[in-house]
Amino acid sequence: MKQSAVFLAQPLEICGRKIKNRVVVPPMADFGMTEPDGLVNRRHIERYGAYAKGGAGLIIIEACAVTKMPEPRNTIGLFSDDCLPGLKKLAQAATENGAVTLVQLMETGLSTMPYHTIAEIPEKEFLRYKEDFIRAAVRCKQVGFDGIELHASHGMYLNQIIETSERQDGYGGSFEGRIRLLAELVREIKKLCGESFIVAVRFENPDYDELVKTAITIEQAGGDLLDVSTGMSGYRNIPSQFPFDSKIYAASLVKDKVLLPVIGVGNIQTGEQAERVLESKYADMAAIGRGHLCDPTWANKALHGERPILCRKCKTCMWYIDGRKCPVRYGGAL
Ligand SMILES: Cc1cc2nc3c(=O)[nH]c(=O)nc-3n(C[C@H](O)[C@H](O)[C@H](O)COP(=O)(O)O)c2cc1C
Repeated sequence: MKQSAVFLAQPLEICGRKIKNRVVVPPMADFGMTEPDGLVNRRHIERYGAYAKGGAGLIIIEACAVTKMPEPRNTIGLFSDDCLPGLKKLAQAATENGAVTLVQLMETGLSTMPYHTIAEIPEKEFLRYKEDFIRAAVRCKQVGFDGIELHASHGMYLNQIIETSERQDGYGGSFEGRIRLLAELVREIKKLCGESFIVAVRFENPDYDELVKTAITIEQAGGDLLDVSTGMSGYRNIPSQFPFDSKIYAASLVKDKVLLPVIGVGNIQTGEQAERVLESKYADMAAIGRGHLCDPTWANKALHGERPILCRKCKTCMWYIDGRKCPVRYGGAL
């Protein structure tokens, strides 16, 4: 007999916005979907529209560039007003069917800059990148998104600063210095975009003490939602009996120490697994990444006790090359 989800089906209110269930589509780029100048294209709109129709309560649009940088692929851009018409269409598609939608704000970091360390970035340039994050958040609000997620994970710029900055201008050295930029961004974006605009942060840190301190700093700065990750790799020193991905263990450590809702992500394939993550109070929301790439209706199926089409977990996920090569979603047709 089919059993509908209980925990996943609970709504959640953040910043006065009702999230209709606890299923999250985490940020996921389709690297084959490139467009010059960071413009949104039809495939983006179709893909995010499908997630919205598929029933997820919260959709986080993939990492989008806050600064125009030379990089091997064209990420969706948030760096100029030319990006606004496409972003507006994307916001409409992704919020269809009552999904709350955030945009992940990314600065790639040192790999796109002529510096080897964060400390080498001249102060004026460092502050300009900060402004770029703030302007990007304002653009997201302008076109109708419900909020943003700061990408401070996966070795990206904000993550590099938190883990490595030795700047001497107050943005490096001690933990308080390394976390300062992130705290200022949360505070300033909230102030400019308003209380009802959700500010989430995706973060990681191999040092659990600093991971938890990061969460507390975000909470104190006025952030609204925490998303604990490490990309496709994991955390170490996990209790051997822990039944889920190490990223969910890290999320549970954070959840213990803050009041903000916490998203858990990592290798959740079925509705039953997601239910157990929430029932065990390891996280407040469950993000299903590759599951949604393979089956955009993952949420509706899991909520109604049906089995979604399962990801085969290809050693290198084909969506890193071009989603149309995914053997499950498109039969690897490209
Ligand atoms: C093709 C692909 C693209 C991704 N792009 C992003 C991204 O833009 N930003 C990000 O924070 N994480 C990105 N991720 C990581 C996912 O958000 C998620 O954390 C990861 O896939 C683990 O969840 P899963 O086991 O449910 O797939 C990506 C993952 C995949 C497979």
